[in-house]
Amino acid sequence: MQKNIILDNILKVLPSDDTQRLLHGRGGLFKGWEQVNIEIYPPVLWVIIYQPIDEIELIETLAVLRDQAAQLALEGIYIQRRYEAGNPVEIFHGTDSHLNVDFKVKEAGLSYWVNLGRNQNSGLFLDMCNGRKWLREHAKDKAVLNLFSYTCSLGIAAAAGAANSVVNIDMAKGAIKRGQQNLALNEVACQRNTFIAQDIFKMIKKLTQKGPFDLLIADPPSFQSKAFDVRRDYEKLLTKLKPALAEDAQLVLCLNSPALGESFLHELVGRVFPEASFVERIANPDVLADVNEDASLKVMLFQL
Ligand SMILES: C[S@@+](CC[C@H](N)C(=O)[O-])C[C@H]1O[C@@H](n2cnc3c(N)ncnc32)[C@H](O)[C@@H]1O
Repeated sequence: MQKNIILDNILKVLPSDDTQRLLHGRGGLFKGWEQVNIEIYPPVLWVIIYQPIDEIELIETLAVLRDQAAQLALEGIYIQRRYEAGNPVEIFHGTDSHLNVDFKVKEAGLSYWVNLGRNQNSGLFLDMCNGRKWLREHAKDKAVLNLFSYTCSLGIAAAAGAANSVVNIDMAKGAIKRGQQNLALNEVACQRNTFIAQDIFKMIKKLTQKGPFDLLIADPPSFQSKAFDVRRDYEKLLTKLKPALAEDAQLVLCLNSPALGESFLHELVGRVFPEASFVERIANPDVLADVNEDASLKVMLFQL
């Protein structure tokens, strides 16, 4: 039974001090659960339903977790329905003590602010945990440019990994402010952290003056109305950024579009940086396993 496997997987991880994804239904490995994600933001279990489904198995599973809430250190189980206007949240267990309020979570020893309910996203993309881990392990002494930084978790991981400097840029002012608050939560080795709330395309000249950067992180939305469209803008962006990069820069390029596979990035990099070599695809966490790995989140490392 799918339900029993899912429950076993969750019970193996809980109670957890760290925030993490527990079920990635969109990976397609669990029939009937393709529209469900389950995450733990201690002490709250956060369930997202993307499209209407037969909820019987899900509710049975959550009821088992609710029965064991005390042992599993679960103070709340919240269900967000993304297919309904305004993304309403149902409190399945507990109170609203962690709903629409800022609270801190930990991942691998670093802390971040999250807010469940206020916005569609929590403030921390949990599927990117291995990207943060990689940056923490590889950013030492590097000048890092973190594009599409959102709440700057990748930049903070790089700063914690003793980067020489980190520039975070995102057009969403609130996300950048949250990034500064996230930095303040952590003691990081890097003291030169810059936060820019601006459209990246309007900043390219200034970014070039701040370079050269040894490590570029680009984690764009696949499509965000006029702001960015991977198919239209990724190549243009990298081309314009060329002068901002060190000769031997590393590029961590992300692509979170099921319709576009690894080849999209290989071809793009081949056109813009013909001399670059592909190093590796940074593995997704096991929980993100997908029936089609090429459709899942791609975090690819290239070396100039
Ligand atoms: C997928 S999120 C990035 C997630 C982030 N890297 C992380 O790991 O938390 C995409 C971000 O790109 C930003 N964005 C989209 N188009 C932009 C543009 N043209 N200039 C600056 N930021 C942009 C959005 O505001 C959003 O925060």
